[in-house]
Amino acid sequence: MTALAFVGGTGPLGRGLGLRLAMAGHSVVLGSRSAERAEGVAAELDAPVGGTDNAAACAGAEVAFVTVPFEGQESILPTLGRELEGKIVVSTVVPMAFDAGGPHPLAVSEGSAAEQCQALLPGSRVVSGFQWLPAPTLLKAEVVVEMDVPLLGDDEAAVEQVAALARDVKALHGFMAGPLRLSSTVEGLTPLLISVNRRYKAHTGVRFAGLARD
Ligand SMILES: NC(=O)c1ccc[n+]([C@@H]2O[C@H](COP(=O)([O-])OP(=O)(O)OC[C@H]3O[C@@H](n4cnc5c(N)ncnc54)[C@H](OP(=O)(O)O)[C@@H]3O)[C@@H](O)[C@H]2O)c1
Repeated sequence: MTALAFVGGTGPLGRGLGLRLAMAGHSVVLGSRSAERAEGVAAELDAPVGGTDNAAACAGAEVAFVTVPFEGQESILPTLGRELEGKIVVSTVVPMAFDAGGPHPLAVSEGSAAEQCQALLPGSRVVSGFQWLPAPTLLKAEVVVEMDVPLLGDDEAAVEQVAALARDVKALHGFMAGPLRLSSTVEGLTPLLISVNRRYKAHTGVRFAGLARD
């Protein structure tokens, strides 16, 4: 069992991924700017999940997931540097906006949201992943989500630990996909998936053809 925290865990992705990882037997605490809000949100999930403020959640965790909007990470992450020192931090963040033409990726000066995360938390071991998982589906505990979860990072041991967490969730296949500098490629696919899902009223995901699975 791994102690997991979600920074901004009160949103759909933090709740959905937190639910699935708690169902897989991990200790999950949702973080928030408001401990009260996190406690309330956690209590509504169909699994034993805790809730507290972001700093307390991170202090007690071995692995922290960043599940805040891209616009929020520049202000919140530097406040958590001490709690996240030396720990694995999973960036799920997609730099993306919507306009009349639909969803589109945003340019990030560091290269990607995950690389920005690493720059904001230089003492942490950042791994990028989970950007393609649809939160509404994760929140339906009875639905099996059969998808690949490519993980990117420069610390192979950290990536392998996060890949094992992903594989603990039924039908998710987490695997090392490459260095952190490739994260913009993975992050950039999310607007495409949303575009496809909107057009075909679907909940599509990605499976890599030809990849060996257990
Ligand atoms: N939704 C999906 O299906 C999905 C799938 C894959 C990846 N993602 C990525 O995962 C991240 C979370 O997605 P989401 O849909 O769950 O996001 P969200 O609902 O917009 O935000 C999640 C939480 O972040 C906190 N937050 C919002 N603005 C903040 C700020 N300026 N500073 C600090 N905290 C802030 C809020 O929690 P408190 O108010 O409680 O602090 C909020 O409940 C995003 O970066 C998104 O790109 C989402």
